[in-house]
Amino acid sequence: MRVRILGAGIVGLSVADELIRRGHDVMVIDPAPGSGASYAAAGMLSPAGEAWYGEESLTRLCLSSLELWPGFASRLGVPVHTRGTLLVGVDAGDVQQVERQLAVLDLAGVSYERLGRRDLLGHEPGLGRVGGGALLADDHSVDPRAVVAALLARVGDARVGDTRVGEGDEATDLTVIATGARLPAPFSSLIRPVRGDVVRLRTPERVERTVRAWAHGEQVYVVPRTDSDEVVIGATSEERDGPLLPTVEGVWRLLDSARRVVPGLDRASVAEVTSRDRPGTADNLPLVGPTQEPGVVLAAGAYRNGVLLAPLIARLVADHIETGAVESALDPRRFLMKEDG
Ligand code: GLY
Repeated sequence: MRVRILGAGIVGLSVADELIRRGHDVMVIDPAPGSGASYAAAGMLSPAGEAWYGEESLTRLCLSSLELWPGFASRLGVPVHTRGTLLVGVDAGDVQQVERQLAVLDLAGVSYERLGRRDLLGHEPGLGRVGGGALLADDHSVDPRAVVAALLARVGDARVGDTRVGEGDEATDLTVIATGARLPAPFSSLIRPVRGDVVRLRTPERVERTVRAWAHGEQVYVVPRTDSDEVVIGATSEERDGPLLPTVEGVWRLLDSARRVVPGLDRASVAEVTSRDRPGTADNLPLVGPTQEPGVVLAAGAYRNGVLLAPLIARLVADHIETGAVESALDPRRFLMKEDG
């Protein structure tokens, strides 16, 4: 098949890589490859840490995609940070929130190890005054920028171009839309952009593993890179529009929470502050599969889990193209599609 993919973020490029592997003729179009949500993402592969009430299907999909990551990462030559994730609460209310998350994991059948303060410090000596938490041993992380670079090298430089449906259609059998938080017409109303501010620090303080924390009611995560002194602090979550610029309040809240959880971060330097939109959907599940437009397939709406879900979405899109199979929970036709052009 001759397939045109709109969008060279981690999802579009993973779809391209999978289709090329299966012998298809692929062209990727994006005016600025890898510059959307993939650029901001911390890279957590965190089905347990992201699990929440009412999102059982999403957790199941995230767990399936996690299983694909070792093979995917080794094909790309990108390391996976496998020291697990600590889930911690600072004050008594925060520890209660941790307990709520652990109850969700009990319902989902996901294992964890509940830890008291002393054991938490044993795993992460740099932690501050935390009240309690758990080890999520199977929640890992990767560097999404390294993943995108590796995918771009495999796929070939993404062609710069327009991303409207219809443009150049005559040269292809099929178009896959993977344009993140901004889908072209007539699909744009299927996505709600959810803004996230993210801070990258350079720190002399060693952080051994990802820490996801509740700190006086605020959620924050601290994700260390394996091969550098960078840690990624994330992320705000706001349904707001406007220019893609981090807010003072957002950055202040992230840093304030992060330094309560890992006090040594006070000595870190601020390397970068980034703001991008997550591609959310009405039910927080991705949109993967056919649309009402013949020959147009969506690979969209990965919301908070674009990095984690990329290899699974790639496989589902390729399977759909080859066999017509559709994962029913992700079928874009579950939503009424309105013309909005
Ligand atoms: N997966 C983390 C985030 O979206 O902030």
